[in-house]
Amino acid sequence: MKIDVLTLFPRMFNNFLEESMVGLAIKQNALTVNLIDIRNYAYDKHSKVDDYPYGGGAGMIMKPEPLYKAIMSVKGDRDIPVIYFTPQGKLLDQSTVNKYSQFDEMILLCGHYKEIDQRIRDTLITDELSIGDYVLSGGELPAMIMIDAVSRLQDNVLGDIGSALSDSHQDGLLGCPHYTRPAEFKGAKVPSVLLSGDHKKIDRWREKKALEITRKNRPDMLEE
Ligand code: ADE
Repeated sequence: MKIDVLTLFPRMFNNFLEESMVGLAIKQNALTVNLIDIRNYAYDKHSKVDDYPYGGGAGMIMKPEPLYKAIMSVKGDRDIPVIYFTPQGKLLDQSTVNKYSQFDEMILLCGHYKEIDQRIRDTLITDELSIGDYVLSGGELPAMIMIDAVSRLQDNVLGDIGSALSDSHQDGLLGCPHYTRPAEFKGAKVPSVLLSGDHKKIDRWREKKALEITRKNRPDMLEE
């Protein structure tokens, strides 16, 4: 999969793209990330990418021309997802991540300042996504979240695909508790069922715990 990231702060991605699962996905050629500095598409001598809002009000708006040129430089006339991160977008969830992980290429636009010019949203953006009901200073962290979430679903990136399928949210529930050695830590023992070797019993225990945790932390997921 190829991901084109349009940002005013490409250096924010440097360490992120080298480490952990995302770094591995890139090394294995399961993922290519192409960073594009929107400022390179500014057209005046001050490289201005923002301006005051028509109608007044606080905050600056990202200008349409550099955004248009930056998006078109990668998109051309191809029909690929152009995702804009904004707190006004649809909430990103696992089913959305699963959907985008299937594409060969997508463009992620990281906004900054108050908003981007609406005409870009109306004409070039195919999807608007939010990562939660809070406001960040820009779309870079949401873009990193998307890159991380889709990269671990690329073929051969996770050693064990069963690991992705048993994640929280893949089956509409939160995950269950996990333990590793030692069997006793500061007096707390690993639940005996996990040591029993009885896989049917272990599956039932995990399902019950997943339900308990979901009921406690995310009752809204059970209502759905
Ligand atoms: N940009 C600023 N805040 C955001 C959020 N919560 N989700 C996605 N993009 C954002």
